[in-house]
Amino acid sequence: MTSTVVVGGFFGDEGKGKIISYLAIKDNPKIIVRGGAGPNAGHTIRDGDKVYKVRMLPSGFLNKNAKVMIGPGVVINPDVLKKEIEDFDVSGRAFIDKHCGIIEETHLIRDSKGELKEKIGSTGSGTGPANADRAMRILKLAKDFDFLSPLIVDVPQEINSALSANEHVLIEGTQGTFLSLWHGTYPFVTSKDVTASGICADVGIGPTKVNEVIVVFKSYVTRVGTGPLDKELSLDDAEKKGWSEFGTVTGRQRRAADFDFDLARRAIMLNGATQISITKLDVLFSDCAGETSFDKLSDDAKVFIKNIEDKLNTPVTIIGTGPAVNDVIDRRS
Ligand code: IMP
Ligand code: MG
Repeated sequence: MTSTVVVGGFFGDEGKGKIISYLAIKDNPKIIVRGGAGPNAGHTIRDGDKVYKVRMLPSGFLNKNAKVMIGPGVVINPDVLKKEIEDFDVSGRAFIDKHCGIIEETHLIRDSKGELKEKIGSTGSGTGPANADRAMRILKLAKDFDFLSPLIVDVPQEINSALSANEHVLIEGTQGTFLSLWHGTYPFVTSKDVTASGICADVGIGPTKVNEVIVVFKSYVTRVGTGPLDKELSLDDAEKKGWSEFGTVTGRQRRAADFDFDLARRAIMLNGATQISITKLDVLFSDCAGETSFDKLSDDAKVFIKNIEDKLNTPVTIIGTGPAVNDVIDRRS
C-alpha cells in the first residue's frame, strides 16, 4: 500500500499542478484522485509546447495509464468537466463519484455578485454557493443526472481496493492551507477544508491509509483575491522580482510576498507533512533554471533549500526548477 497526498501550503497556486503531473508520470500511480473544493481551482501544466489549464480533472492526467477520478467531496461543473475530458483526451479513464455535488446555473449567478464577489473576491465559479446548498441538503448530486451515469464509479471503493492490492494512489488537493474554511484567514477563504485531512475525507480514504503527505510551497508567497497577506509587496516591486503572476481561473494579478516561515511551519503542522516540495526555485535563482541535480545548484540556492529544511524540520524532496513537467530535482531515495 502506498498513498501520497499532495496539498498546497500557502494560498493556492503553489505550483501543485506541475508537481502532481511530475509524480503522476514518475511514480506511475494506478489512480490519481482529486479532492478539494471545485472548479474554483486552476492548475497550469506544461508538456512540451502544450499548455493545459485544468479546473476539474486531476492534474495527473498526462499519465495515460492512470485512471483519473474526482472524489465525492468535490462539486463539479459538468460543462467544464466534459470539455476537459474531450480536450485532454481522457475519455474512458476519467470517473466521478455518485455523490459529487453538481454546480448549476443558480450557483454561478449567486457567485457572480454580492458579498462573495465583492468582499471575499470569490472566483465566481459557483463552488461556494453549491457547497452552501450541500450543507442545506438541497444540492443535486451526480447520481441525479442521467447523462453523468457513464462516468460514475464508487471512488472510495476503487482507491481503497487499489491500496489493498499494493497499488500506488496519488491524492491531489486544491487551493492551499490558508484558504481552508477551518484553518485559513476566515472569512477570506474557500468553502471547504482543504488541508490534507479534508482532502482525504473528500476522496474517502481514512487517516491510517496515508503514507506520505507532501506540502507544496512556492519559493515566494502569492495570493489572489482579498484577505491578509503579511509583508505584501507592491505590484511594482513584485514585478521587479519577476513574481508577477496571473490567476488560472480568474486572470487576476496575484499579490506577492517573500517566503513566510511562520505560515510554512503552521502548514507543516496542520497537514502532518512528511515531505516538502519547493516550486519555482528558478524564479529566485535564475542559474537554477531547468536543473535536475541538487549538487549542481548554486550555493545560494542550496542555502535557501537547506534553511527551509532546518527551520521546518522536514525534508525538501522535490524541487521545481522550471515550468516543464520534468524541470524537477527529485531527492527521494
Ligand atoms: P471561492 O473559493 O471561489 O469562493 O473564492 C474564495 C477565495 O479563495 C478567493 O480569495 C479566491 O481567490 C480564493 N481561491 C479559491 N480557489 C483558489 C485557487 O485554486 N487558488 C488560489 N486562490 C483560490
Ligand atoms: Mg491555481
